[in-house]
Amino acid sequence: MGRVVVVTGASAGIGRACADRLASDGWTVVGASRRGTSSGGWQGLVMDVDRDESVAEGLAAVAAQHGGLDAVVAGAGWGLAGAVEHTSLADARHQLETNFFGAVRLVAGALPDLRQRSGRIVLISSLGGLLGLPFQAFYSASKFALEGYGEALAYEVAPFGVSVTLVEPGNVRTDFTASRRDAVPPAGPDPYGAAAARAVGKMAADEAAGVPPGDVAAAVHRVLGAARPPRRVTVGKREERVGVAAKRLLPFRLFERAARGSLGV
Ligand SMILES: NC(=O)c1ccc[n+]([C@@H]2O[C@H](COP(=O)([O-])OP(=O)(O)OC[C@H]3O[C@@H](n4cnc5c(N)ncnc54)[C@H](OP(=O)(O)O)[C@@H]3O)[C@@H](O)[C@H]2O)c1
Repeated sequence: MGRVVVVTGASAGIGRACADRLASDGWTVVGASRRGTSSGGWQGLVMDVDRDESVAEGLAAVAAQHGGLDAVVAGAGWGLAGAVEHTSLADARHQLETNFFGAVRLVAGALPDLRQRSGRIVLISSLGGLLGLPFQAFYSASKFALEGYGEALAYEVAPFGVSVTLVEPGNVRTDFTASRRDAVPPAGPDPYGAAAARAVGKMAADEAAGVPPGDVAAAVHRVLGAARPPRRVTVGKREERVGVAAKRLLPFRLFERAARGSLGV
């Protein structure tokens, strides 16, 4: 039996591509999602990362069947669009519940096993976890949170030989665009309406023209096979990745001015 990996978000997009790629390389893959989709090459598991019991039960089932775990890929996630002023706290909390706490639940449940096997943790972050995305503030917040968490966690688990890698895709062609939810503005004239529509419309068009999810899966596959996995890996078109370097190098005001066009504001 090959090494065992749990991939969340495996019913679609990036998670599915990761499950396919790892299974084709001999990994024993358990692909988790609420739909519980499976494939010829890997086993599906119904798991809602928003719920403590669901993650605990899912990981217990994996341990019972496979005797342990060598890696996790935390890919489950969705997007929330809309002006900050119009986003309810309930929607904002839900966004962090899946994108941040969903990964936290998975990692917390898997760590006792991963520590025994010098395991690997891959967190699917986003370039939106490095650059604030206008009208997707809570999506960005969820991924910025993941970035800080992953960076801190890496120090804690290194003594056990466990690695943590943040994979940061730019625009990827998946169901993510169609699944994005919108904050509901109050009735009446919407002072943000035109700007929000422009920014989110540009994001949707950029995603439709983005790289295929197999590119992210190839990066995840490299990370899981590397002797010394990197802390961070960006995936996507060169012009998107240049934005990250520009933020690091330019005075922030200059960066902000330059970034406006590509962010649609
Ligand atoms: N697409 C992009 O441009 C892009 C860019 C950067 C980062 N990302 C990140 O990549 C990850 C995957 O996104 P994607 O593009 O592959 O989107 P996708 O095609 O919409 O797939 C999302 C996956 O997450 C699962 N999911 C959502 N909520 C869940 C929950 N509560 N519990 C368990 N599974 C859940 C969905 O399965 P079920 O509905 O069956 O539960 C589905 O398998 C996300 O974290 C996203 O933020 C995407």
